[in-house]
Amino acid sequence: MRCGYFDDLAREYVITDPRTPVKWINYVGTLAFGGFVDHTGGALLCRGDPATNRITRYLALQPASDFKGTTLYLRAGSEGRYVVSSPFYVPGLQPLDLFECHIGLGYTRIVSAAGGLQTAATFFVPRGEARLLIDIRIRNIGAEPLEVDAIPVVEYTHFDALKQLTNADWVPQTMQSTAMREGDGRIILSQYAFMMRDTRVNYMASSLPASSFETDRRRFLGDNEYGTWARPASLGARELGNSQATRGDNIGALMHHLGKISPGAEKRLIVQIGQARSVAEDTPAIRGFGDPARVEEAFRDIRAFWDAYLDRQQVRTPDADADRMLNIHNPRQCYVTLTWSRYLSLYQLGYGARGIGFRDSSQDAMGVLPNAPVEARELIMRLLSVQTRAGHAMHQFNPATMEATMGDAREREDRPQYYSDDALWIVLAVCEYVKETGDFQLLSHPVPFYDKAESGHPAETATVLEHLTRALVFTRGNVGQHGLPLLGFADWNDTVNLPAGAESIFTACLYGKALAEMSALLLQTGDTAGAAECDRWFEEMKSLFNRHAWDGAWYVRYFDADGAPLGSRSNAQGQIYINAQTWPVIARFATPERALAALQSMHSRLNTRHGIKKSAPGFNGFDPAKGGVTTYPPGAKENCGIFLHTNPWAMIAQTLVGNGDLAWQYYRQINPALSNDQVERFECEPWVYPQNILGDEHPLFGLARNSWLSGTASWVYQAAVKHILGIRPDYAGLTVDPCIPAGWDGFEVTRAFRGARYLIRVRNPSHVCRGVRSMTVDSREVRGAMIPAFADGAEHTVEVELG
Ligand code: GLC
Repeated sequence: MRCGYFDDLAREYVITDPRTPVKWINYVGTLAFGGFVDHTGGALLCRGDPATNRITRYLALQPASDFKGTTLYLRAGSEGRYVVSSPFYVPGLQPLDLFECHIGLGYTRIVSAAGGLQTAATFFVPRGEARLLIDIRIRNIGAEPLEVDAIPVVEYTHFDALKQLTNADWVPQTMQSTAMREGDGRIILSQYAFMMRDTRVNYMASSLPASSFETDRRRFLGDNEYGTWARPASLGARELGNSQATRGDNIGALMHHLGKISPGAEKRLIVQIGQARSVAEDTPAIRGFGDPARVEEAFRDIRAFWDAYLDRQQVRTPDADADRMLNIHNPRQCYVTLTWSRYLSLYQLGYGARGIGFRDSSQDAMGVLPNAPVEARELIMRLLSVQTRAGHAMHQFNPATMEATMGDAREREDRPQYYSDDALWIVLAVCEYVKETGDFQLLSHPVPFYDKAESGHPAETATVLEHLTRALVFTRGNVGQHGLPLLGFADWNDTVNLPAGAESIFTACLYGKALAEMSALLLQTGDTAGAAECDRWFEEMKSLFNRHAWDGAWYVRYFDADGAPLGSRSNAQGQIYINAQTWPVIARFATPERALAALQSMHSRLNTRHGIKKSAPGFNGFDPAKGGVTTYPPGAKENCGIFLHTNPWAMIAQTLVGNGDLAWQYYRQINPALSNDQVERFECEPWVYPQNILGDEHPLFGLARNSWLSGTASWVYQAAVKHILGIRPDYAGLTVDPCIPAGWDGFEVTRAFRGARYLIRVRNPSHVCRGVRSMTVDSREVRGAMIPAFADGAEHTVEVELG
């Protein structure tokens, strides 16, 4: 079963059946103002922070058929007989003659037809603006003239997203709305959105005169709310009730009598939902966006932004499903994760203190480097400011206040209060940033440490380079009985929370990788002594690692506080973990023989047709000594599910042992575009990577959840372009080091890099996976498979032959 198709030329996915297995969403705007729009026109909006400045009431937990946040009703007919309908399908659920939801880059356009009317509504947030625009065109496609009314609706929430669910007296007592009529008959409805720090107004406005309005949900749905969103009682009368709510559940609804639309004619209505300090302050801008020309210009601006973003790196491979992901949807998802981290989606509901995750965002920053290095830098600097002077990092921070916390660790005071991997990720992110941009100056930039929680310490500021050093020193200073890094509360695998004293194989490898990166970076800065020190630390850890972590046919994943292994054949459950096989290869800790054996064990024990499982076999029942991982049934999420974030690491590891065929098999088996024909199984949006897919120990093997906000986006993009296609920035230029399926004849990449453009053509006449036989740049032979960074604003042609 499929619910839509890819339109690569338009850079869209088009949903053609509104009854998708679960809601499919698209992001609009950024965290500064934005959120998501679902494919039936519901919108969740916030400004600056979804927990403490939420605008629309979008309850993701409610059934798909329910009104959520925003909608549009049409009322059409002739001679006094009118029919109310929902052009977005929800909440009216009347059958439609046509339904198309175009998922574009930064916009969603819903086109539908019923009862002789075709409606096209484009949702987007203009760049830099704090307003959602809904640009609606209603066309008479029938043979008879029709009288048409258009009634857009928004439902507001309390600014505190969690309080709306927990305090049903205080919240409604604070809600108030007012209506302001403009001279020309237009109405601006505003809702008083007091906040703890300041007050704002949320508003709804439109480009056409409105004859009446409603701001009180009780009145709109019908007295005492026994009307429903599917059939609001107030739409039975010609006009809405014009009540300005003094409490309760506040909405905005505007009645527009569009008049008679003759066959073939069209009316256009532009709706705005925004937030401002006051209506007065924003009125000029509201009026401005009532002008269709201004709206079209803002829309062109969005398209130009995405074109420029994507244009910096485009590929052409023999695999069309890969190309549509690598050229459009994958880098788009990388940008979405950069903006929203794991904070706001249909699954991450933006409540509480979760905010922006240190490890997650460090990895997200790497994903956008080819396309948006400036944005990556901004995020890296914010992350460094929540690293502690001790060297470890705060786990999460609130983007609006920059208050940081230790995440879930706070709930377990008996466990170590740090995550052993967090700070190490930023070492990788900074090194990749410098390789992309050549911006070594970043390293000497001063950044304060985050030590507000530790009283008695004066605020301390240090250079970016010093921040990185502290991360490494912290790991080196916090090791357990085998000399391997202590786990802390957890490592990357958030939900394995072993009692204090446990050691992490993953963190050992990440530390190794970070040391190798740091050594290379220091060599570039001329600090040979520092580089040699990193190399020594690397060798020390590598030898401890190989002495203790080898289990015979694969590497173990943890040692518990008693020194017993987890991820070993001696365990009944959790015998083998993917990350403990891929990361020793990525870190270059594994000897060549062990690398091959570990990857072979991973492949035979963990690979499935829908992706590689995180571990096996699954824990079956809660075990307080292991923590969160045992709350899931076998096959779900971290408990032996296909946790997708880990799969690109397996692709990278296969390229490092030269197996381009397996690397590509791993790429294809998780490409969501290939699930487009099986959405009854996959259920999630087929144009983005989900976080998890149920594994083969689960009855619903192959079912995806937690789409959009996953580190999978960044790592698949990196694995595919930097490691499989092998176009990889390095300090001296662009390395060309492909590891592709032997069957490929070649591929092409166009790449903007440090002020020049490169057209890279790779041919593979001998059908090998790896090995550059010759390379020319602008027809001149180049040795070492490294494209120099010309920085001359020109375009250069690179011809590569493998063999
Ligand atoms: C979630 C978390 C991420 C963690 C992963 C695996 O995606 O956001 O930080 O690494 O789960 O536990």
